[in-house]
Amino acid sequence: MMNTFTTLLGIETPMVQAPMGGAAGPHLTASVSNAGALGTLPLSGADADQARQRLRQVRQMTARPFAVNLNASKNQDARMDLCLEEGVPAFSLFWGQSPCLVARAKAGGAVVMQTVGSAKEACEAVDAGADVIVAQGWEAGGHVGGTVTTMALVPAVVDAVGSVPVIAAGGIADGRGMAAALALGAQGVWIGTRFLASDEAAIHPEYIARLLAADETATGYYESLFDIGWPDAPHRVLRNSTTKAWETAGRPENGARPGEGDIVASSSSGGDIQRYQCLTPGTDLRGDIEALSMWAGQSVGSVRRVLPAGDIVREILNEARRVALRLAEGADRQAAPAMLKEDTRR
Ligand SMILES: Cc1cc2nc3c(=O)[nH]c(=O)nc-3n(C[C@H](O)[C@H](O)[C@H](O)COP(=O)(O)O)c2cc1C
Repeated sequence: MMNTFTTLLGIETPMVQAPMGGAAGPHLTASVSNAGALGTLPLSGADADQARQRLRQVRQMTARPFAVNLNASKNQDARMDLCLEEGVPAFSLFWGQSPCLVARAKAGGAVVMQTVGSAKEACEAVDAGADVIVAQGWEAGGHVGGTVTTMALVPAVVDAVGSVPVIAAGGIADGRGMAAALALGAQGVWIGTRFLASDEAAIHPEYIARLLAADETATGYYESLFDIGWPDAPHRVLRNSTTKAWETAGRPENGARPGEGDIVASSSSGGDIQRYQCLTPGTDLRGDIEALSMWAGQSVGSVRRVLPAGDIVREILNEARRVALRLAEGADRQAAPAMLKEDTRR
């Protein structure tokens, strides 16, 4: 499944492990890249020492390409320069656009992928020089910039940006979703929630258990609920005791929400954690994990097993090939056998 996107990034499989702050560390990034897809390492909040250490950890585990994710609404100049010094070949920028940051990355020889939530934003990103557009639909887990679903967004963005590769994000957790995204004109898929249930994701076991038990109706989209540390940033999470208490109370304004100020958990690295805090529950947390912001997309309904990340890559790719074959068989029986080439590596 090679195309313009895979050639640009130097990868085999048109799949990206979505950056997931607090969940995707060097192990997940390297495992996905080693499986032939693109691993992505979020570094938005890392200080220089942490960033360098994590980049070197990735490099120790893989020689393959990977990307670094940065929040473009903050000044990332120093962090990007450090990444370029360390030889990072690609960046993923999200939460706003920064033509200066795009220019900086490109001057350093890196590929730039920009996350957008509308065709208009996609055109702005292309004008700023982005090489790849990530069209993130409303069903995505974590922070969500737009309000259009992946099914409607991807073709709109594909039509708007011409030959620039578009990657579909949000709601894709298996090969059926991958095949559907490619059918919409995307050149690849950007997958987050599915990789939360991987051996390498650095999240709390209680969070994983809740993901595995959740169905497709289990998430909610909130404008600014888990806002301590990051206000006014819409997000999708598993609904839990915190979201339900707030909804039952009539969705009161911030400052009048149930349990505001409660300390619900603590971590060895970050100390006390308040209800409504914006945080990915990590392995070092203790306390009421269920009450915290357990980011997840609607695709959580198809997440049923924890697997090594490389197996997830291969499982999704092989299923997408089978779906494509099934569709091609209906259209052209002569062309079908060439498409049935399963990747059986372990
Ligand atoms: C736990 C979690 C953390 C996330 N953190 C980030 C982040 O730091 N940077 C970013 O660009 N996107 C982040 N996202 C959004 C993902 O990059 C991606 O757009 C989303 O997961 C795709 O939808 P899916 O979850 O349905 O696969 C996060 C998503 C999740 C689930």
